[in-house]
Amino acid sequence: MPIKSVLKATGAYLPEKVLTNADLEKMVDTSDEWIQQRSGIKTRHVAAEEQTTADLAIEAAKQALERSGLSPDYIDGVIVATTTPDQTFPSVAVKVQAALGIPAGLAFDVQAVCTGFVYALSVADNFIKTGQAKNIIVVGAEKMSSIIDWDDRTTCVLFADGAGAVVLSGNEAEDSVSAQGIHSTHLYAKGELRDLLYTDGGPSSTGQSGHIVMHGREVFKYAVTFMADAVNDALAENNVSAEDIDWLVPHQANIRIIEATAKKLNMSMDKVVVTVDHHGNTSAASIPLALNEAVEDGRVKEGDLLLLEAMGGGLTWGSALVRF
Ligand code: UT7
Repeated sequence: MPIKSVLKATGAYLPEKVLTNADLEKMVDTSDEWIQQRSGIKTRHVAAEEQTTADLAIEAAKQALERSGLSPDYIDGVIVATTTPDQTFPSVAVKVQAALGIPAGLAFDVQAVCTGFVYALSVADNFIKTGQAKNIIVVGAEKMSSIIDWDDRTTCVLFADGAGAVVLSGNEAEDSVSAQGIHSTHLYAKGELRDLLYTDGGPSSTGQSGHIVMHGREVFKYAVTFMADAVNDALAENNVSAEDIDWLVPHQANIRIIEATAKKLNMSMDKVVVTVDHHGNTSAASIPLALNEAVEDGRVKEGDLLLLEAMGGGLTWGSALVRF
């Protein structure tokens, strides 16, 4: 029987500090009304100055590991999706590995911006399916506040901090979509569109990490088309229809993008996990944060069919179909 990567447990961490739209009104020329109307965001969490992405990632991974019931000795991989590592190297993943007392195994970061978690999930799934690893912790963690230009109202009202994690475990299962585990991942990139969303710096160019620059309107247009395509690819490959999906867990960039994708799928918003209103856009952390919230409050239950989808800088985009 083939091996499937089963989502054994989820975990999350949000920094204590909450930044409201009213707070942002005092910082830049914006309004609560504009932010809510254009993005759906009301509040977001922002890390303390001394808190790093690894600090957030460690908390989320710790919670997922504890809930999985696995001893750190059994974890043979840590993959962290992040765009905001503490240092150029070493990776955030090796810090998570050390902090959790995981004695050995692979550990590295994946950088695909807001699509990072879907990319990391896919990489981990392939290690597990081929038998190269049995249990992998996949984390999406970001301190986006560290690369925001706090004078740029077009971006500073959108991005935020946080971390989410899952423990994936290899399990022999029937090759049927009714089995638990990851059934497909689809990853895409179109590098010619990289100048629509980027940082104006980096180690080998300016020597500084730089700040986010986004051509929001254009990114918005691509986001709706690309995410709907990625979702349709997942449905087609698994021979399922949108009605079979229990929960859509989308990247949380903008409520209007999420609603447009749901509409294209003819899915009711009652089946869509939405956290953008209180998390903002946490890039690679947004999907595992949303998933964890829906698991914790009982919406997502064992056996549910989940469709994850994301799109971000690069441009990159992708989807994953998972039986929880
Ligand atoms: O996560 C990675 C992928 N990222 C995304 O998917 C983000 C995609 N883009 C978006 O979500 C939306 O494009 C935004 C939320 C970024 C912007 O919404 P929009 O409806 O596309 O607005 P816009 O950029 O077309 O700007 C409309 C107006 C502009 O003024 P003019 O030119 O019409 O006079 C902006 O200057 O709103 C102005 N504006 C603001 N006004 C108040 C831009 N930012 C702000 C602001 N407060 N914070």
